[in-house]
Amino acid sequence: MIPIIKPEFGKEEKEVVNQIIDSGQITRGNWTFKFKESFKNYLNVAFCHTVCSGTAALYIALKAIGVNNKEDYVIVPALSFMATIDAVILAGGTPVVVDVDDTYTMDTFYLEEAVKKYKPKAIIPVHLFGQTADMDKIKEIADSYNVIVLEDAAQAHGAEYKGKKAGSLGDLSAFSFYASKNVAMGEGGAICTNNPEIDEKITNWIEFGNHPALNLRITEFQAGIGYYQLQKLDKGNARRREIAALYNKEFQDLPGLVLPYEAENRKHIYHIYALRHLQRNKIIEKLIENGIGARVYYDYTLHQLRNALHLPCEKAEQFKDELLAIPVYSALTDDEVSYIIETFKKIVKSL
Ligand SMILES: Cc1ncc(COP(=O)(O)O)c(C=O)c1O
Repeated sequence: MIPIIKPEFGKEEKEVVNQIIDSGQITRGNWTFKFKESFKNYLNVAFCHTVCSGTAALYIALKAIGVNNKEDYVIVPALSFMATIDAVILAGGTPVVVDVDDTYTMDTFYLEEAVKKYKPKAIIPVHLFGQTADMDKIKEIADSYNVIVLEDAAQAHGAEYKGKKAGSLGDLSAFSFYASKNVAMGEGGAICTNNPEIDEKITNWIEFGNHPALNLRITEFQAGIGYYQLQKLDKGNARRREIAALYNKEFQDLPGLVLPYEAENRKHIYHIYALRHLQRNKIIEKLIENGIGARVYYDYTLHQLRNALHLPCEKAEQFKDELLAIPVYSALTDDEVSYIIETFKKIVKSL
């Protein structure tokens, strides 16, 4: 079986785990520091805090910018993993859901409508599947209405907008290092910002001192693995882009498919190769029968899932019934990629 997702671990990750065991320092040590420094440098941001998950990162980011009560509206896109909206609800705020466009990221027309109507505290653009949202337009709207931009970059390690890294584009950002992510630690997350005041608020939430705090730390094992994953990120992303380009070329003439594309000024890192077809359930079933991992991303929209306030979300409501994902990761061999292409073509032609 070719799995839908497989992290690529090598001898460095194995050795660092042993080294950490031998050292006896299994949390709050050099590796956590090293990872934070290298992630900060990679993104070109001033501050980085590691936490135990992407969900925790989003939650702390929202608390740090003062999302506390029902009058604190936060705009989220209709298509994302549920943690994006759950973090807003858990923080005590009120999520408002807007539609996505054909890049599967936040539609900026509806965003502006929602900002005018709800005067939100924050906007969470999600860089879904590995491609950033339209950040210039989002920041323009945010600036004119004085709203904070919190990027959900959980799926976008190394993605770029106008040459700048996802996670360095808004006021602050949240990452996940869950097992499936382009930088995988098993579990883990990070919050990044260039703003010293926001940084201080984040610190107060997660570092014990003369105020209540939460322990959301990662261990040295996660940090050590993450450090070596980060060294391999650009190479892994290049391989993902190569495979996605091959899929796009090979699938372009197949009937009924809508393929992913890279929007102008953006570098897509294909965390997920997501495409659409009206008979996606049948395609997934047949791919699995043929030993190829495939799945739906996502079969829900956030406003329907959590019964949230929303503007019209026609595209997301349509896309949720058509989207499927096929394997795209650096550990795929050329033979596996050829097998996926041939099998996928046969299945789609036979429908
Ligand atoms: C877009 C998005 N946001 C948030 C999360 C939450 O991250 P985690 O699973 O590390 O809590 C994920 C991933 O799982 C995600 O894909």
